[in-house]
Amino acid sequence: MHMQLWSATLLIADVVKVFNPQSPQARAIFDLAIVAIVVMGIIFAVVVGIVAYALLRFPRWREGERDPEQGAGNKKIEIVWTAIPLLIVTVLFVLSARTMGISDPPPPPNPDIVVTGHQWWWEARYLKSGATVANEIHIPVGKALALRLDAADVLHEFWVPELGRKMTTVPGHPNHIWIQADKPGTYLGFCSEFCGTQHAWMHVLVVAEPQEEFQKWEQAQLVAAASPTGGNAQKGLALFQQMSCVNCHAIKGTSATAQVGPDLTHFASRKKIGAGIVDNTPSNLRRWLRDPQEVKVGVKMPNFKFTDEQVSDLADYMETLK
Ligand code: CUA
Repeated sequence: MHMQLWSATLLIADVVKVFNPQSPQARAIFDLAIVAIVVMGIIFAVVVGIVAYALLRFPRWREGERDPEQGAGNKKIEIVWTAIPLLIVTVLFVLSARTMGISDPPPPPNPDIVVTGHQWWWEARYLKSGATVANEIHIPVGKALALRLDAADVLHEFWVPELGRKMTTVPGHPNHIWIQADKPGTYLGFCSEFCGTQHAWMHVLVVAEPQEEFQKWEQAQLVAAASPTGGNAQKGLALFQQMSCVNCHAIKGTSATAQVGPDLTHFASRKKIGAGIVDNTPSNLRRWLRDPQEVKVGVKMPNFKFTDEQVSDLADYMETLK
């Protein structure tokens, strides 16, 4: 029950975000939506008005009363009620086509970022620098970046409501969108196509920051992880490399290079764990390592049944991955 209430709250939050456009693309969509809502509001008012008038004016059929005059085949009426909807649909079509031109110009041959949807997290690779991150995408403020959208397994849909349209990610069929933010800030994105158990917890944070800070962040992502030289963290690194962690995860600067799960090189600098399901705190990290299934039911990472000591060593190591 509590979870349902929580989901409903999230759903309302999504809808509200649509009405808070923070990029030229999102604003174009918002403006079109307002026009459509007003037009539909007028149609609704006219239809309800006519029905209400008829109900009040002619409340009941009376004995002996003649049928009202029949209008079948009246050319004038037929033409008017065909022309008005045709006009409305044509105007909305033209406005929609114009909005698509603003919100979705053709992509450049080389995208800035390749975003891949996985069950249930987002991978982002910055093509020029080679930085690879998960569930947290940084962009420079005021600059449109071209995204290529891929999927590793099933259909997903990338959507950051405040920054623009949504776009499906299809395995083997890249799609494109542009992403831009007018103001610095953190924008919450979702997967908006049902993709399995944890579809609802496939969040992505888009962090828009001034160019200089963005460059600093991007450079930091390229730095390999330092190897701890002692203590529990060193034991944690050894454990990470011995256990099957390395079959899924990569940490630059270690022997782990797999690309199945999120790249963990700068795990400790991320705000969230499990694509948004919990904050990245020391206690949540330990909960996750003890049993990921308890935190995020159905997540692809199994319960490794680590001992308390192993959990503690691994967590100490992962906290060094700034
Ligand atoms: Cu991925 Cu829904």
